[in-house]
Amino acid sequence: MRQMSKSKVTMDVIVDLQYGDCGKGKVAHFLCLKRPYTHVLRYNGGCNAGHTIYHKGHKFVTHHIPAGVFAGTPSIIGPGCVVDPEKFLAEIRGLEKGGINAKKTVFVANNVHVITDAHKAEDSKDKKVGTTGQGNGPAYRDKFSRTGVRAENVPALKPYLVDLYDMWFGGTKKIHILAEGAQGFGLDIDWGDYPYVTSSHCTVGGAILNGVPHSAVKEVWGVAKMYETYVGMKDFQPKDEPIFNRIADAGQEYGATTGRRRQTNWMNMQLLEKAIRMNGVTHVVFNKVDVLRDVGAWAVIDGDKTVQFKSEKEMKAFIVKRLATLGISRSKIFFSESKEGI
Ligand code: IMP
Ligand code: MG
Repeated sequence: MRQMSKSKVTMDVIVDLQYGDCGKGKVAHFLCLKRPYTHVLRYNGGCNAGHTIYHKGHKFVTHHIPAGVFAGTPSIIGPGCVVDPEKFLAEIRGLEKGGINAKKTVFVANNVHVITDAHKAEDSKDKKVGTTGQGNGPAYRDKFSRTGVRAENVPALKPYLVDLYDMWFGGTKKIHILAEGAQGFGLDIDWGDYPYVTSSHCTVGGAILNGVPHSAVKEVWGVAKMYETYVGMKDFQPKDEPIFNRIADAGQEYGATTGRRRQTNWMNMQLLEKAIRMNGVTHVVFNKVDVLRDVGAWAVIDGDKTVQFKSEKEMKAFIVKRLATLGISRSKIFFSESKEGI
């Protein structure tokens, strides 16, 4: 092995505290434009993810490619992910068409595992979990059973391949990574509601698995919504309570990947606390405040009861007080209702 320089690596991580679709892409895009990150790292998942990003007034949906591409920051698909070469290349072409220089900005770690046609065919038959049908689970299974194929063996991916050891430690410049996850804590393979989970690690642990030392982690941005949504086979939305359909309509809660309607419920404080603690979250963004305002309802689930609030102010004060018990001060909490910023 060749000798490496002593470059310094630091990393901020974005994690979703609920069931995905909380707006991580927006937070990543926002932080990338504000801060001097040298790289953006997508650390888990495949094209099951869907990031909706508003850039300079245009809407873009990406599945594989991290939000850093819009800021012109080198964006890497790390080995915690699985990649569908055809979809990846189609996404590159789509971004190029939209005026984004993706060909020069996006990289794939040579040890990422590949989603094959057989994986997709198998996943499309799933009736138990309600997967996105993108081949995610079978690709991870084959990776772990040591029968998978790595990106380095796919000629079409050659122009994009990088060795992450070289990338993180090969130069003399400081490396400052923004790690952007997919899915969320409630879908995590270990901490989610098994088997209604995805097949990857959606936590800070999952980010570190991409060749980044644990001591590199500085800030951990947890992203939540003011209510919860979930897509999949389990029953999630309370029956006969029209408020949840109203929230879903107001929030346009349809999947970016499959177009499926998302089941909706109030924010669960215990899931939020668990995700904050286990991820060591330092900053929290609560998205879609405007959606609850639209329907004029404010509530959370806390323990076994639903706590109703009279106003937006009351709900925010409740959340702020609870997060203070977890060591997160008001200045680290962002209530957001903007599509582009936080
Ligand atoms: P898979 O990740 O396609 O295997 O699907 C497993 C579960 O995770 C299903 O309930 C999916 O709906 C859910 N899921 C996967 N990706 C996302 C996402 O990006 N947002 C929300 N749910 C997701
Ligand atoms: Mg999404």
